[in-house]
Amino acid sequence: MKLSKMTALLAMSVAMPAMATELEVTHWWTSGGEAAAVAELAKAFDASGDKWVDGAIAGGGGTARPIMISRITGGDPMGATQFNHGQQALELVEAGLMLDLTDVAEANNWKEIVFPPSLLEACTVDGKIYCAPVNIHSPEWLWLSNKVYEDLGIPVPTNWDEFVATAPQVDAAGKIPLALGNQPWQSNLAFGAMQIAVAGIDAWKAVNVEKNMDVAAGAEYAKVFAAAAAARELARKSTVQDWNQATNLVITDEAAGQIMGDWAQGEFQVAGEVAGKDYTCLPGLGLNQYISTGGDAFYFPKLDDPEKEAAQKRLAAQLVSPEVQVAFNLKKGSLPIRGDVDLSAANDCMKKGLEILAGGNILPAGDMVWSPDVQKQAEDLMVEFWKSEMPAEEAHTKWVEILKTGL
Ligand code: GAL
Repeated sequence: MKLSKMTALLAMSVAMPAMATELEVTHWWTSGGEAAAVAELAKAFDASGDKWVDGAIAGGGGTARPIMISRITGGDPMGATQFNHGQQALELVEAGLMLDLTDVAEANNWKEIVFPPSLLEACTVDGKIYCAPVNIHSPEWLWLSNKVYEDLGIPVPTNWDEFVATAPQVDAAGKIPLALGNQPWQSNLAFGAMQIAVAGIDAWKAVNVEKNMDVAAGAEYAKVFAAAAAARELARKSTVQDWNQATNLVITDEAAGQIMGDWAQGEFQVAGEVAGKDYTCLPGLGLNQYISTGGDAFYFPKLDDPEKEAAQKRLAAQLVSPEVQVAFNLKKGSLPIRGDVDLSAANDCMKKGLEILAGGNILPAGDMVWSPDVQKQAEDLMVEFWKSEMPAEEAHTKWVEILKTGL
């Protein structure tokens, strides 16, 4: 080894605090906006004397989750891992594979500060807390390129109905009316957003919370499937795979709109676009201004190593801390999981989300109300539906059958 390199290494080891503990953290945040946001988590963890070893898994949650789960069940656990709020890690917790964070939660008053309480409830199994929630993400947004409409000389739509009505003009101008990526979860997400926008809140709750299968099979939901069949036509010209490639079609004004979660904001931000000026965001597709409180939480597999366990608990506490909540969520485009932090730097779209949250217009996320199995079956059906000519009525019947398997 060259002397200069040795000196550099020596200097580093002197500068590092003795207790630096490495934790590998897995997640599926690989787009530009996501990478910028996760870098804030790593920066804070490293600055406090530990070492974040980044374990990004490309391909989205649908690809990452089975890998994460098989590593944990297969005896190769990471130090921490992302999952969505809800039931994705429930079987791992029940199998005794995940670290109990109740002491961290109590020491840091999570029960008093985490809002809405459903986020911490989703972490709680048999009275013990197993995850640290980091954000609130709602999937029900329509993102629009203002320039596409300015070039056509028509006002930017204010809701889904106006978007559909103006789509033929967008199409005739050679643009893609609706950008949609091919990953299975994206068509399911679009359908979920249309449920709340088209069927309305009462019908949504009846089906997804009260599990009323008559409403699921009824007229309100027939309208949702008809709207989805119409949207399918608007997405025909979209051939991209990843969600952020679809967002990029809107950013570059090649597509008029995209139905996507508020994590899309991270992409607009990285591209230097300004909310309200370059693009428009319509929560609840502009029809029903509700957001569902999905998002992300970190879980910590048991490692049988006291030093690592202490670092896992330090990271859990830090993720919920006000400083990290602000730095991370401003980059991520998500809302913080506590109301007592200063988000005056939020852009117009985040402000809309914050207002909806403060007004209490919130719903549980799909992962909170349906098991991963039902979610997966619904996702498979949606992929088939969006990519084929399957009639709306047939998809509707099949969908109700899938929901019934989860009762
Ligand atoms: C979601 C996750 C978000 C976002 C998105 C796309 O599941 O909650 O944080 O990154 O996937 O990767």
